[in-house]
Amino acid sequence: LIGLTFDVRRYGTVGSTNDIARELADAGVREGTLVLAREQTRGRGRHGRQWRSPAGNFYGSLILRPDRPLAEAASLSLVIALAALEACQSLTRRELDLTLKWPNDLMFRGGKIAGILLEAAAGQDARPAWVLAGLGVNLASYPEDLPYPATSLAEQGVAADPERFLEAYLAALGRRLPEWQTDGFAPFRSTWLAHAAGLGQLARLRVGDEIRTGKLADLADDGSILLENPMGCLERFTAGELFFSDLEPHGPSSPT
Ligand code: BTN
Repeated sequence: LIGLTFDVRRYGTVGSTNDIARELADAGVREGTLVLAREQTRGRGRHGRQWRSPAGNFYGSLILRPDRPLAEAASLSLVIALAALEACQSLTRRELDLTLKWPNDLMFRGGKIAGILLEAAAGQDARPAWVLAGLGVNLASYPEDLPYPATSLAEQGVAADPERFLEAYLAALGRRLPEWQTDGFAPFRSTWLAHAAGLGQLARLRVGDEIRTGKLADLADDGSILLENPMGCLERFTAGELFFSDLEPHGPSSPT
């Protein structure tokens, strides 16, 4: 990850770029390999959801072999979400109202514009053998019938094709990933918080089958979030799915 360079492999129609990246990673390709596809027929989202993937949007999976503990892989995905935000921002001189929704969604004025699917395999010495960061960005379009609000860069007046986004994304990753490799997530905390969606707001967090409610209070140095429960106590979570009522004006009032 230090002195990281990229090897972009371009595909037309694929099932999922994460699946191709996994095969390549298992076959031993070097880190920095990025699988880019024009469209996906079996795009996957987090929590077992599908990610509809028509041509025009960005679908890319990056293979990394970080020399940090596997347990830190989750914080890597927060850094990748930040790089995606910086890439979108660099496409225009206009200040874009982009925010990061923990753990790794990119939002534009309350609508989801990008998501990350991180997959990792254990290697030696508690290090990952590989980490795959699949990123999908709604550049041109987004599904209209999602249970949450979504948007695209095009709808927000920013024109970008996948190649242009790729260039901006690789530039941001080339800056950010070596920083994370050297010092971990802690130095990113304040930058991440400066872009955080819903800080100070009441949120619901789904962890497995359980729902926890609290005010989104803070982010810890390892990238986990702190919710302040109604008793005023802080609770720390390393994983889960967040819901803000005012981020979901059209959605269900509770996660289903
Ligand atoms: C989410 O927010 O649920 C994550 C969406 C991740 C979608 C990307 S598109 C490229 C890569 N290939 C996949 O099948 N999924 C990820």
